[in-house]
Amino acid sequence: MTSLHPEQLHRFVKEVCGALGSSDTEAALVADQLVGANLAGHDSHGVGMLPTYVQLVGAGLLIVNEHATVVRDGGSVTILDGNAGFGQVMGKEAMDLALERASENGAAVVGLRNSSHIGRIGHWAEQCAAEGFASIHLVNVAGHAPYVAPHGGGDGRFATNPICIALPGRGGKPAAMVDMATSQIALGKVRVAYNSGYEVPEGTLIDAEGHPTTDPAKMYTSPRGGSLTTAGGHKGSGLAIMCELLGAALIGGETVQPGNKWNGRAINNMLSIVIDVEAAHDRGAVLDEAEAYLNFVSSSPVREGSDAVLMPGQPEQMARAARAGGFEVDDTTHAQLRACAEKAGLDAAAIDAGLTRV
Ligand SMILES: NC(=O)c1ccc[n+]([C@@H]2O[C@H](COP(=O)([O-])OP(=O)(O)OC[C@H]3O[C@@H](n4cnc5c(N)ncnc54)[C@H](O)[C@@H]3O)[C@@H](O)[C@H]2O)c1
Repeated sequence: MTSLHPEQLHRFVKEVCGALGSSDTEAALVADQLVGANLAGHDSHGVGMLPTYVQLVGAGLLIVNEHATVVRDGGSVTILDGNAGFGQVMGKEAMDLALERASENGAAVVGLRNSSHIGRIGHWAEQCAAEGFASIHLVNVAGHAPYVAPHGGGDGRFATNPICIALPGRGGKPAAMVDMATSQIALGKVRVAYNSGYEVPEGTLIDAEGHPTTDPAKMYTSPRGGSLTTAGGHKGSGLAIMCELLGAALIGGETVQPGNKWNGRAINNMLSIVIDVEAAHDRGAVLDEAEAYLNFVSSSPVREGSDAVLMPGQPEQMARAARAGGFEVDDTTHAQLRACAEKAGLDAAAIDAGLTRV
């Protein structure tokens, strides 16, 4: 493990993106979100994604310096095409537009289709919460073979299709935010376990014959030797399917059915519903009621086998407090970061400055 400082890694990610040809703005957006995911405790969606981005740019499957384009504008419903550009740019541009429209109309529905990977979905709900807006996001993952088995099924029929819901609180932060893969664990968490030499928790993976396994390597053989399972059995399975239908089909995006190309792209489609709190009710009253409710929930007596009753979004706040001064990157991810920086054409001095232990 190597302990790296967030500012140092932020600079490193920006430099790698710059070497790929990204503008300064694009490079900074990518760095903000990836390092932000590590700080929030989600290494699955942190700087460990950078090697994938470098590989996608090299293969011509992720296009630098693209912007979202409006393909359908119905006022309260707007559909954008992400043109296979960086999801960190597309997500921000989609939320900028949703916030503008929701300010005018009280609420807005924005569909973003054909974006490259948009990372940690909570990042987009936080952008909305910072402006005082509640939001709901349904996302599917397309462009490559599915790897999460439906409830009762033995092989992949969708990916980790995340859902995120947030209510803004005080100080531009969400009062509560659930941001979750509909699989038991995100694929990136299997990657982190594989890179770190750990097993994944029981019940999260099945092998190619449908038997339970805890071996993360099953997801990294070719052909793939296993599938992830859904969160909450049939419930997560149903939510993942609705992410395909509303998050993709409804907005003209690709579901992951095999009639759509599986050529290794990491495409996200996202349906976002953004609501101006003031349009719904008095903001102060909403916050008071929400806080009273959240206090009621968190005062539930801690049950045997548990450490605490946490609200959704609280683990991320705790991780931010713990990681602000630096966080550890496993040796495999560290080596992958070095290799991808070399592939992007970054010079050795910049790589050393970015990846040397602080
Ligand atoms: N872009 C993509 O294609 C994609 C795909 C899948 C997941 N993701 C992202 O991956 C990230 C990780 O997803 P995940 O499902 O592994 O997250 P997770 O299981 O760590 O957390 C899910 C939710 O549960 C809450 N939570 C966690 N532990 C809790 C506890 N003990 N008590 C109460 N609440 C708790 C968290 O605050 C969070 O809101 C998310 O940010 C998600 O958006 C992105």
